[in-house]
Amino acid sequence: MSEEDPGANTKPFLDTLSGKGKGRPPVWLMRQAGRYLSEYREVRLQAGGFLKLCLTPDLAAEVTLQPIRRFGFDAAILFADILLIPHAMGQTLDYVENEGPVLEPVRDRRAVEALRPEAVAEILAPVYETVSRVAAELPPACALVGFAGAPWTVATYMVEGRGSKDHGTAKTWAARDPEGFAVLIDILVDATVDYLSAQVAAGAEALQLFDTWAGALSEPGFRRWCLAPAAEIVRRVRERHPGVPVIGFPRGAGVLYRDYLKDTKVSAVSIDSSVPVTWAAEHLQPLGAVQGNLDPHVLVAGGDGLRTETARILDGLKDGPHIFNLGHGIVPETPPEHVAELVSLIHG
Ligand code: CP3
Repeated sequence: MSEEDPGANTKPFLDTLSGKGKGRPPVWLMRQAGRYLSEYREVRLQAGGFLKLCLTPDLAAEVTLQPIRRFGFDAAILFADILLIPHAMGQTLDYVENEGPVLEPVRDRRAVEALRPEAVAEILAPVYETVSRVAAELPPACALVGFAGAPWTVATYMVEGRGSKDHGTAKTWAARDPEGFAVLIDILVDATVDYLSAQVAAGAEALQLFDTWAGALSEPGFRRWCLAPAAEIVRRVRERHPGVPVIGFPRGAGVLYRDYLKDTKVSAVSIDSSVPVTWAAEHLQPLGAVQGNLDPHVLVAGGDGLRTETARILDGLKDGPHIFNLGHGIVPETPPEHVAELVSLIHG
C-alpha cells in the first residue's frame, strides 16, 4: 500500500521533523519508559538504584525498548536522566524514593570551579553504549531520540540542590551576579554539546533538549538563559553532525515559543498543554514541526475526555508538521491501557 518516495525516510517521525511527513502524525510520549509500567519496575528493582539503571547499558537499553514493544511508538527515547551531567562533573547526586533528586548545592564561583567537565565523556560512556545497543535493536520504522537537559533547567537543580517551586536561589544568583552564573551556564553548554554529539555518533537520530523550568524566567531571562544557550548548543552540535534534527522543549514559554523556534533553529518545539493548538498552527508550524500537547492527566483519566482531547489536538495541528506527544512527561499513575488506546486512536 505504501508508495515509495525515494526522498523520504522509512521512519515517519524523522519524515515529520524534516517536513516530509504525510498522513497521520507519528506518536511517542515524554517519559514513556518509567514507573507506570510493571516491567520497568521489575528492572528498576533488579538494578538496585536509579543511577545504576541509567549507567548499566543492558538494563537501560531494555527499559528504553519496553514501551516500544508494548505500544509500538514511532520513536524511542534513550533511557537516562538530565542530571547525569552534574553527576559526571562530580556533583554529589542521589535519587531519594518519593522525593526525587537531591544534590550537594553549587552556589558560588568556587563550587563552579570544582566541577570537572572534562570527566563527562568517560563517566557517561555507558550512555553511548546504551544508544548503540538500542539503535541495533529498534524496529526499522522506529526512530531513536537522544536527549539532554537544557543548561537553565539543569542549573536550577544544581543550585537549589533539589526540585524547587520557584527556583529562587538560581534566579537570585542570576540576577545578582549574571557573569558568575554565566560561567556555570557556559560549562553546561560545553558539556551538553559533547554529550549530545556523542549520542549522535553512537546512533541517536534526533535530539531533544528539555528546558522544564523555562517558564519561570522573565522575558530577558528567557532570552539569556534559555534561548541563547539552546541556539549555541544546536549550532555547535550541527557543526559536528550537520542537519541533525533537534526538538526544543522550553516548557511554559508561552508566546516566546515562536522566537525560540525561529532563533535557536531547532527543527521542532514541544509545546506544553497551555499553548492553544490554533495559535501553534498559525505561529509555529510555518517555522517548524510542533510536538505535543495532550495534558498528561487527561491520559490518566482516559475515557471520552481522552478521545475528545486527542481529536481536538489532531484536528488543530493537521495542516502542518505534527508529532503527537504529551504537554509534559507521563505520570506514574497512568494506566497503561490508556496509553494503548491513545496510540490506536492516532495510528487508526
Ligand atoms: O522515558 C523517558 O522519557 C526517558 C528517560 C527520562 C527520565 N528523565 C527518566 C527518569 C527523561 C527524558 C528524563 C528527563 C528529566 N529528568 C527531566 C525533564 C523532563 C521533565 O519531566 O520535566 C527532569 C526535570 C528530570 C530530573 C528528574 N529525574 C526528576 C525531577 C526526577 C524525580 C521525579 C520522578 O519522576 O521521579 C527524576 C527521576 C527519573 N528520571 C525517573 C525516571 C524514569 C524516576 C526514577 C525511578 O524510577 O525511581
